[in-house]
Amino acid sequence: MYRPGRVALATRSLNPFVVGIFVVVGIVILGVTIGLLVHFLAFAQKPYLYQSNLRITNVEYTRQLESPTSSEYRALSRTIENLMNETFRASYLARQFKRAYVVRIRQGDQGVIATVLLKFHFTGRVSEASMKNRIEQILRRLQNNAGTMIINVSPENVQLIPPATAEDILIRECGSSPELMTLSFERIIQGTQAGAGDWPWQASLQLNNAHHCGAILISNAWLLTAAHCFRTVRDPRQWSVTFGYLLSSPERRVNVRRIIIHPNYISETHENDIALVELNSEVSFTRNIHRICLPAANENIPVGATVYVTGWGSLQPGGSSVNVLRQGAVQIISNADCNAPESYNGLVTSGMICAGRQGGGTDACQGDSGGPLAMADSRQIWSVWGIVSWGYECGLPNKPGVYTYVPFYRDWITQQTGI
Ligand code: ARG
Repeated sequence: MYRPGRVALATRSLNPFVVGIFVVVGIVILGVTIGLLVHFLAFAQKPYLYQSNLRITNVEYTRQLESPTSSEYRALSRTIENLMNETFRASYLARQFKRAYVVRIRQGDQGVIATVLLKFHFTGRVSEASMKNRIEQILRRLQNNAGTMIINVSPENVQLIPPATAEDILIRECGSSPELMTLSFERIIQGTQAGAGDWPWQASLQLNNAHHCGAILISNAWLLTAAHCFRTVRDPRQWSVTFGYLLSSPERRVNVRRIIIHPNYISETHENDIALVELNSEVSFTRNIHRICLPAANENIPVGATVYVTGWGSLQPGGSSVNVLRQGAVQIISNADCNAPESYNGLVTSGMICAGRQGGGTDACQGDSGGPLAMADSRQIWSVWGIVSWGYECGLPNKPGVYTYVPFYRDWITQQTGI
């Protein structure tokens, strides 16, 4: 039976509900829009990078300061950074100031010149000229307030630079990590697969275009690798080097001009398992391709330090190499422990260093040879301490990876390359 009254009633009772929904949705959309507008116009924090050169006239430039990994360089950088941090945190730009980072120390007419990057977060619209002025003003306070250092801040010293310029400055220096590029200092190494640019000094040493070993970029023209990679073929014309974290689509491929194998390499004992590879043409550094630092000859890596090994090697002994670069965290083991009877029983000599995990697990394996064992210092600068050399199978307990100890060969590297 047809009953029109009911239907009409139902429609009328639905109306306020629908209207209510429309009103609520409308308010939400309006609120979100206003919120976003306010956020982007007034509260969005944009990073601004400034470069500044400080003349420190009473600090003598020494040979040690040539290397960013020396304790002298690190101490001086830290002192300057702390001073800058204190000065800006005590200023009216305290909230906007994020960090100061010394990217370079070089010889000045008198004393040293430190190039410093300053990172700020400014909100809303800022006048670039007035910002630069204010920063210069605050920097000038350093002149009277630098403790034992005499710092000279010349006028027209502060320069706003685009992020790409900061990146260019950083990739020219050795060991710059990806997190330094944005001066963020946050790096989370997660999982075992690396991403693009995570290990920019890692190269693949290829025999007739097939991955054979890892290699480590130490300048535009030179790589470090293991001598045993050249056990069968020593003719440079059959070798090439690729860069980039994927074997299947490398960012660059460069031919090899020269191979220098350590004259005292002994294949039976793995002693002096180190070689240098000179490229046919220099690679230009990019965000994803640049060099790692070399530790000085007299430096020592502490036992227990966490270091990273990277490579395209197989996941088990006898396996094949992988396409995506892998990374693993391991700990430095003393030569005494590594030479224990249940471990390598005296086979580890002073030109070698062991690294692994208690109980086994993460380790280098076949195809990782020649690749880096790298460590970051407290300023996020990476150095290569070891070269993947040998081990009994892979990842077994008491059978850690054995690496060529780079500081032991530091002088030989300089003799051969001038680096
Ligand atoms: N010799 C191997 C190679 O040619 C590397 C061995 C490293 N082994 C280890 N367990 N860490 O690739």
